[in-house]
Amino acid sequence: MAKNDTMEKLVSLAKRRGYVFASSEIYGGFGSTWDYGPLGAELIRNVKEAWWRDVVLAHDNVVGLNASILMAPEVWKASGHVDHFSDPLIECGNCRKRFRTDDLANPEQCPVCGKKELGEARQFNTMFKTFVGPVEGDAAVAYLRPETAQAIFVNFKNVQQSARGRLPFGIAQIGKAFRNEITTGNFLFRTREFEQMEMEFFVEPEDDERWFEFWVKERMEWFQRYGIPAGKLRLRAHDPDELAHYSRGTSDIEFDFPFGWSEIEGIARRGDYDLRQHQETSGKDMTYFDQAKNEHVLPWVVEPSAGVDRGALAFLTEAYAEEEVESAKGKLETRTVLRLDPRLAPTKVAFFPLIKKESLQELAHRLQDEARFEWMTFYDETGAIGRRYRRQDEVGTPFCVTVDFDSLEDDAVTVRDRDTLKQDRVGVGELMTYLREKLAWR
Ligand code: GAP
Repeated sequence: MAKNDTMEKLVSLAKRRGYVFASSEIYGGFGSTWDYGPLGAELIRNVKEAWWRDVVLAHDNVVGLNASILMAPEVWKASGHVDHFSDPLIECGNCRKRFRTDDLANPEQCPVCGKKELGEARQFNTMFKTFVGPVEGDAAVAYLRPETAQAIFVNFKNVQQSARGRLPFGIAQIGKAFRNEITTGNFLFRTREFEQMEMEFFVEPEDDERWFEFWVKERMEWFQRYGIPAGKLRLRAHDPDELAHYSRGTSDIEFDFPFGWSEIEGIARRGDYDLRQHQETSGKDMTYFDQAKNEHVLPWVVEPSAGVDRGALAFLTEAYAEEEVESAKGKLETRTVLRLDPRLAPTKVAFFPLIKKESLQELAHRLQDEARFEWMTFYDETGAIGRRYRRQDEVGTPFCVTVDFDSLEDDAVTVRDRDTLKQDRVGVGELMTYLREKLAWR
């Protein structure tokens, strides 16, 4: 399958089956914003759960935070975002389209109308500005956060003291971020509203390279653990001229998307830049008392920062497959399958009575009721069994449980595996244990 076909097919499947819809679709959509439908909402909930488990729960020295999106405007002045968080923008004098300078293949020619009337590049701050309260004046300006990280920095002392954190330790947060991107596109890849999974890991200054390497390795392994093969991932160090204003070194984890290698996560060495800026601007002490050294230090920071939406898009594109299989009648047919890792798959188990007969329906419902509080489940009794399997393959459901006539005799059901197509006969009493083993997080 050609690479670009995958993207087109995925976008269409995502809409048809309720993964992702264009936002405000009945009004023609709204500039690269997307809404997650019933299956998409589950998928990103699982992506975030996987991250939280592996970054927060798995480490003694990492704790969570859930801070507000709106913050004092001084935060963004101190952090450098008001002065430096901008992209170079260029406008075409003929068609008035705007571009990021670094997106232009030919810096002299408009890629839309072809005219050589591109203006001078100017810096465009990509933070969204709004006003708090009824008066829209300078005094009421607030920003939608362009990264979740700053709430972690300004809460550093609150968290460190309340959680009694000792270096090295991390504060993690998942939440929405907003950027008024000049150009958006490639489906969920670059949008103006997105979600980040960030962790600021505070370390002794002399330890930052070691911890940077530790988190790069952890994060590369994380993507592989949930289904991205090593060959589809690479690490790319930023050139000095592309580093963010706060960074003394950043490496991106890139994924081989159908539209080319692109960043899904950045791991940055932020030094003490942020804590120092907030200490100087607020006048509040942001130091940590190092008992071993008997001195106050400003910790340095290693920051793995991943996008929920980009991660979901990488998992979805990697999972998408079309393959020839033999139908029940022995004919070859194409099946579309999302080979999502079972832990990420939205619906984990589908329950089918072989036909619409009360005794089979009752048992299928009873088994679903046992499973529904552990996982997202689905019940389907319409159409031939083969078609019901195909419908679940297409949305990535890893297991289908079928109740047939024998079930009433042998007290067992058939569990069909999405990937191997193997069917196991499992006793009704053992079904939950069987599924729990297959769907365990670790
Ligand atoms: N706190 C550091 C930071 O925000 P970043 O590299 O600008 O670093 C981190 O962003 C991650 O957030 C990216 O790797 C990407 O996954 C996600 N991200 C950034 N901008 C995005 C956008 N416009 N749309 C979707 N995801 C985005």
